[in-house]
Amino acid sequence: MSDPQPAKFSTDRLTRWVTYGCLALIAIAALVFMAMMPKASPPPIEIAKDGLLLSGREIYLARCISCHGERGRGDGPLAKGLAGPRPRDFSGEEWKHGEKPEQALSVVSRGVPETSMPGWASVYSPSEIKAATAYVYYLAGKPVPGALRASPK
Ligand code: HEC
Repeated sequence: MSDPQPAKFSTDRLTRWVTYGCLALIAIAALVFMAMMPKASPPPIEIAKDGLLLSGREIYLARCISCHGERGRGDGPLAKGLAGPRPRDFSGEEWKHGEKPEQALSVVSRGVPETSMPGWASVYSPSEIKAATAYVYYLAGKPVPGALRASPK
């Protein structure tokens, strides 16, 4: 039997191929995007069992690394372009705003006025702020203060 509508048939085929082509392009784009995403390195072994530092690390890698750098050396990709004081090396210098847990917590929750250090209290819960702050102590090579480990209010 001859096809009554050869023209329509070929349009359907064209539509199908265009659809497949688009899907393939989307899949390729997704693969390229995934390949280009920075690889998250696994957490260092010494914190692998420390839930507080693991969650602090997640926040730090998402929100703090751009200015403070992966190891907290003050060398994140944005650091050089910031107006005002630069983020410093957490491990190399005395902390400008103090090393007591309440001082560090206050900086992380409220930020530092007149500098590019933002406050995070509107973004993170108090326990998340504690975790991120604890991770800063860890990066600095300082013991994590007990106050940061206390269960969240
Ligand atoms: C946009 C850049 C930027 C981001 C993002 C940022 N910081 Fe900062 N941070 C700074 C700068 C600049 C300073 C130095 C402020 C100063 O000199 O008073 C600073 C200071 C600090 C200090 C005080 C250091 C000291 O010497 O007393 C702590 C702690 C800190 N940041 C933690 C964090 C944490 C934790 C995050 C992520 C949740 C974060 N920062 C995200 C720019 C940033």
